[in-house]
Amino acid sequence: MEIEESFSGVYIIEDHIATENLKPSIKVYGEKLVDFEGKEYRIWDPRRSKLAAAILKGLKRFPFHEDSKVLYLGASAGTTPSHISDIARNSLVYCVEFSPRMMRELVDLCKVRENLIPILGDATKPKNYLNLVEKVDVLYCDVAQAKQSELFMDNMRLFLKPEGIGIITVKARSIDVTQNPKKIFREEESKLKTGGFRVLERVKLEPYEKDHMAFVCEFAF
Ligand SMILES: C[S@@+](CC[C@H](N)C(=O)[O-])C[C@H]1O[C@@H](n2cnc3c(N)ncnc32)[C@H](O)[C@@H]1O
Repeated sequence: MEIEESFSGVYIIEDHIATENLKPSIKVYGEKLVDFEGKEYRIWDPRRSKLAAAILKGLKRFPFHEDSKVLYLGASAGTTPSHISDIARNSLVYCVEFSPRMMRELVDLCKVRENLIPILGDATKPKNYLNLVEKVDVLYCDVAQAKQSELFMDNMRLFLKPEGIGIITVKARSIDVTQNPKKIFREEESKLKTGGFRVLERVKLEPYEKDHMAFVCEFAF
């Protein structure tokens, strides 16, 4: 077996991608663990994580690295945050989630992974967690909500460093089930541009996620 690093902290193991387990022998969502030359890797499942799907679908700009400060909107029980926690191992990942049920599971995960900071909050009201979150290098948004682009931009304006990168995964059906997804993606992209952001990259997540697109953005100024 050979292991090769693709992006910072992302490894290729045969046909899979993986991250180095920050907490060896502990699984987060039933993922496979692989030992190699004294390190343990967690296989990153693209059907459980849209960021893994984006990587496998050819994402070119991967802004995360071991020192990245990250704000994660829509952390749920922490599947994708756990892999970002493996990558940003010397830093902090602020995880915003508004469902108390998901937050309970997330808090259990954060007890084990000290670089994950749980925040029970509504991402449409970022001023409510202004005092808890510092400026970040990367803002990742996966809330599957109708107003996701708007809340993504509001959070970017408050928390993203000027040279930072934002990634949003847009689920067309969360915005309007009756519309053609292509039209929805065009409209969401246009909102991002009008809002003062440059779209650097767009990645379709099929076949892992139907009618989903990831947009990678930066400030246009
Ligand atoms: C698709 S799931 C996220 C999955 C997670 N990102 C992962 O890959 O492991 C979307 C999550 O966003 C949360 N959510 C939706 N609207 C939100 C809001 N306004 N503020 C905070 N969390 C929100 C939902 O409760 C849900 O847990």
